[in-house]
Amino acid sequence: MTSSAAAEVFRSAFDREPVGFARGPGRVNLIGEHTDYNLGFVLPFAIDRELVAAFAPRTDRLVRLATDFEPGVVTASLDDLRGAGGWAAYPLGVAWALGEFGVELADQCGFDLAVVSTVPVGAGLSSSAAVETATLMALSSMWSLDLDRLTLAQVGQRAENVAVGAPTGVMDQAASLLGQPDSAVFLDCRSLEYQIVGLGLGAAELAVLVMDTHVKHEHATGGYGQRRAECEQGAAQLKVGSLREVGLDDLPAAQGVLNEVVFRRVRHIVTENQRVLDVVELLGTQGPASIGPVLDASHASMRDDFEISVPELDLAVEVARANGALGARMTGGGFGGSAIALVPQDRADAIGAAVVEAFSEAGYAQPGLFVVHPVAGACPLG
Ligand code: GLA
Repeated sequence: MTSSAAAEVFRSAFDREPVGFARGPGRVNLIGEHTDYNLGFVLPFAIDRELVAAFAPRTDRLVRLATDFEPGVVTASLDDLRGAGGWAAYPLGVAWALGEFGVELADQCGFDLAVVSTVPVGAGLSSSAAVETATLMALSSMWSLDLDRLTLAQVGQRAENVAVGAPTGVMDQAASLLGQPDSAVFLDCRSLEYQIVGLGLGAAELAVLVMDTHVKHEHATGGYGQRRAECEQGAAQLKVGSLREVGLDDLPAAQGVLNEVVFRRVRHIVTENQRVLDVVELLGTQGPASIGPVLDASHASMRDDFEISVPELDLAVEVARANGALGARMTGGGFGGSAIALVPQDRADAIGAAVVEAFSEAGYAQPGLFVVHPVAGACPLG
């Protein structure tokens, strides 16, 4: 996405020139699903689908927001940043959440911000984290803030939890802020320690193909929160602070304590944490071509134990595999959104075509198919 597209939206909305630009990428999660709020491990990467914000400070306390994906200008005050609906809740929410992390909002100026984005909304690729992190970069510049990226990730999470009302973890914001080219972010969501893990996809002539089912998900309502509550119930019944404290060896005993459904939720989280560790080790020792079976096992666990897949995601995963993907799994919160497949670069088109055909035959809406590359996290643009 280009700064000039954002500048154009800015000019036509506000009738003035922007003074700066910032970008925030979306993400895919390679593995480690619903483990973040259980204080476990995740391995996402920032993708080359991003949101660009054009911005300029104001001399009063007004905040004005515009985008090319919705008409009109949203206006708010720095003194009243909560309660907006729609996309504006994210940029206003991060401005509010900075206040929760010690930024004196009373001393700051208002601002105009216009955004354009190539992250599809509702595809499970964190279009919301992209808005949050680009806005955080813009505010860091306009308000001369010097918060480190892990803190900014938590600011974004707080905005989403409180201002938007989605009970999500810290993974998306961390991926969007900490990403590096050709690498994934291996994050321990308990200690917030992280390592940048090289993926080596190009050298192995592999690619990550996104298969967007166009089944929309919504994390502020419904299944996501229910899964989180089931995990918390499991932890409480097992008398641990979080499911991070439950290991593979503890599962047989846990089965005796938990009801059948909660046990399966717990088993997904515990085995998924181990799969993240396995993938990190395999990437280091045998390279990316070796991780396919672990991706497959993760999908099966989400489909059968955690029950967050949908038939469209299952079909995309099966067809990709049957046509030469090394491994495939749904990515993100589930209940719709996208699956990813690890594919030989020269098979990406053929695998995509097979998925399109299978969706047609099944009577599903046409999926969106595109290859993504791991890129650097959010930053100001010159
Ligand atoms: C959504 C949330 C994340 C994470 C994933 C599932 O993307 O925003 O915090 O919980 O779902 O892994």
